[in-house]
Amino acid sequence: MTKKWNAERKNEHYYQMAKKQRYRSRASYKLLQLNKKFKIIRKGSYVVDLGAAPGGWSQVALEFVGEKGMVIGVDLQRIKPFEEGNFLEIRGDFTEDETIKRIENVLGKKADIILSDASPQLTGIKDIDHLRSIDLVTGVIKIAASTLNPGGNVIIKVFPGEEFKDLLQKIKKLFKTVKTTKPPSSRKGSKEMYLIARGFKGGKYFKSLI
Ligand SMILES: C[S@@+](CC[C@H](N)C(=O)[O-])C[C@H]1O[C@@H](n2cnc3c(N)ncnc32)[C@H](O)[C@@H]1O
Repeated sequence: MTKKWNAERKNEHYYQMAKKQRYRSRASYKLLQLNKKFKIIRKGSYVVDLGAAPGGWSQVALEFVGEKGMVIGVDLQRIKPFEEGNFLEIRGDFTEDETIKRIENVLGKKADIILSDASPQLTGIKDIDHLRSIDLVTGVIKIAASTLNPGGNVIIKVFPGEEFKDLLQKIKKLFKTVKTTKPPSSRKGSKEMYLIARGFKGGKYFKSLI
């Protein structure tokens, strides 16, 4: 990142708000805004947060689920611990089977919500970034198939493009409703969008689709 980029970032509204309100990242506001609009995370929910580091979304999820819920954060990078006892960290690549098994073991039951703000290593080349994003979204749906409760909901970051249309059609068959949205705190220049899929129909529909 250039010095100019860093200076602009530090002057930015949501960056400053995150510092003031002690959120770990400006990304926290995306989840706050998405949850305000779509009411996905509720008290007592069991949440799996994929691509969770440094922990801004997990922090917001912990506020929503309260003491009776649980948040599991998964990332290649370390996530600094939270004070809350109902947060668990899994360090690993969520597209690998071994990590999926660890998620299932730690959960001990099905999750109510799966979040993914995971970003691939961006190259700036639209087609490559898009294909890497598709791999991550497919990984999230694979995890949903084995760990999400029927009726459960997901929020997934996507970088739309040609392949996405096809994947979206498949995801639509797995959930009752699917929408794409861009929260106000998502940078205008960023191609990212968020997929809100509600009412999971169950893992048995997955194998023939993805
Ligand atoms: C934009 S950051 C997430 C920010 C986070 N939501 C927050 O609020 O702090 C994207 C994260 O996705 C993670 N990531 C990307 N691919 C991954 C994978 N295959 N498995 C686990 N984590 C991954 C990256 O390591 C990075 O920390």
